[in-house]
Amino acid sequence: MKVFYQYKELNVAKNKYPAKSIGLVPTMGALHEGHITLVKRALEDNDLVLVSIFVNPTQFDNKNDLKNYPKTLESDLTKLQTLGGNVWVYAPEADDLYNNKIEPRVYNFGKLETTMEGAHREGHFQGVATVVQKLFEALQPTVAYFGEKDYQQLQIITALVRQENIPVVIVSCPIIRHEDGLAMSSRNKRLNIKERAMAPVIYETLQKAVALKDIHSPPQIESWITEFFAHQPEFDLEYFSIADIQTLEKVSALNGSKTRAFIAIKLGGVRLIDNIKF
Ligand code: PAJ
Repeated sequence: MKVFYQYKELNVAKNKYPAKSIGLVPTMGALHEGHITLVKRALEDNDLVLVSIFVNPTQFDNKNDLKNYPKTLESDLTKLQTLGGNVWVYAPEADDLYNNKIEPRVYNFGKLETTMEGAHREGHFQGVATVVQKLFEALQPTVAYFGEKDYQQLQIITALVRQENIPVVIVSCPIIRHEDGLAMSSRNKRLNIKERAMAPVIYETLQKAVALKDIHSPPQIESWITEFFAHQPEFDLEYFSIADIQTLEKVSALNGSKTRAFIAIKLGGVRLIDNIKF
């Protein structure tokens, strides 16, 4: 494993290395099994795997959230080291990518960015697209790996490479869960013991919603979920949406269309997201 703090240095090493395909796994660190699964998948597909670890300031609309984002570089490196294989880590300071100008670029993703996460986190996807495009330009991977946990992000990145004609193949990877069903996330660590014990309700409820799909319409299921969480005082539901997997617009009937259910919910002040295939 090699660690680089500047992409120019990484590229000098890369140019000496005869890799036919280079896989990139962009992350913000605080690595857990969800991230590690992406890296393992990238190792199966590529001669060289780059893992970027960078807490991107332009995607945070909340300064406190940015300040409190866990930074655990040493243990992240230990986890990656144990994987073996050709993993190179890129862990820059903001200036290396942003060149003293820490600002998002301007994109138009239409309705893809005004719904769900986009509606609740202002400017978030402009910041995500900016840093991902910068990473693609700096590191020039063949393939890049993203998790379905952040499904809307995945659709934004797919739109980004199409719109900007970026020659990178985007691979999506399934959501990795704890044994009790809670989707893995660095935010789970911020739940206290009681909240952590309640958190599996989120995925259980998504599964119940799927079980209702043959007898109830999407709007009926959405009302049922809203009602259910209204009676759970620890939870604060931000949205639940049964939506088309490509446009992310709500559907009123399944009609064999490809849909997923998406949820964002606060538990004890910790904002959690999840989704499930419908
Ligand atoms: P981060 O939250 O660190 O996630 C990095 C990648 O890991 C994303 O593609 C995310 O979808 C994936 N991931 C996280 N938890 C997962 C889980 N439980 N199962 C499967 N995949 C999971 O997403 C970001 O960072 C940033 O927005 C980034 C793309 C790096 C741009 O800054």
